[in-house]
Amino acid sequence: MAVLAAQPAFAAADREKLLTEPGVYGTFAVFKVDETWWKLDKATRTFAAAEVKVVFQKHTERVTVDTYLLRGLMEQADFFVRVHSTEMLHNQNFLVDLMGTRLGKYLVNTYTFNGITKPPNYVPGFPEDLQKVVKTTVPDPGPKPYAIVVPVRKDAEWWLMPQDGRNAMMKEHTEAAVPYLKTVKRKLYHASGLDDLDFITYFETAKLDDFNNLIIALERVKENRHNKQFGGPTLLGTIRPMEEILEILAR
Ligand code: HEM
Repeated sequence: MAVLAAQPAFAAADREKLLTEPGVYGTFAVFKVDETWWKLDKATRTFAAAEVKVVFQKHTERVTVDTYLLRGLMEQADFFVRVHSTEMLHNQNFLVDLMGTRLGKYLVNTYTFNGITKPPNYVPGFPEDLQKVVKTTVPDPGPKPYAIVVPVRKDAEWWLMPQDGRNAMMKEHTEAAVPYLKTVKRKLYHASGLDDLDFITYFETAKLDDFNNLIIALERVKENRHNKQFGGPTLLGTIRPMEEILEILAR
């Protein structure tokens, strides 16, 4: 514990670092609100929502939390949180506190995915022009209200394949995806050993039609043969401030 305490805590202002640097732990926790919650009177639900805000405040120095509404778009879930920190322990402490609130007692934790961000494995070996496109294409400005999370597990053949074979397939994957760099923002988490997955893929976009076409393009490349799990579940939600989600739950 002393080792962890000695680590510099990320101030709220370091959110940018946590969202961009390698070596950051990400936890996606998906929740369904129990039916009995909606039968509580409004005042009780409003009070319970206020308690959740205090939990977010308490952990602000160690974790950065993004919140997403799934309700209406997914049956098994109402919202999810994406938690980042330099220690999985901090993610856990935040979630334990969240689940310990009055609202938390009505939350069913339908899924949790854990991963870590890493430097790119394949990009440094790509031809220079492809590297340049990947590294320098800036996403179109403007809000990207939709978030999609796709958990992925590769097959044994993928991991046993010589590096050259994987390099070639990831080059093909990237070439198929390049047309979508401007409209789809992406983030990759490595999950092997931290979960039953190999990757958690996360996307933000304003154009779900582009995202649909992107997935179809990626389903047509050879690397797709090695996806043992793709989705199951795919999460499709909208990025909403925590206050708005709590307001919906208190309604
Ligand atoms: C704008 C669209 C996309 C682009 C430009 C893109 C590009 C890339 C690149 C360059 C890498 C290699 C990163 C490295 O060097 O380690 C990569 C890895 C990966 N991508 Fe994509 N991608 C896109 C969308 C997607 C989508 C939609 C999925 C699946 C839902 C996906 C799944 C993956 C996975 C699982 C890896 C890790 C592969 C591995 O390390 O074995 N990507 N992507």
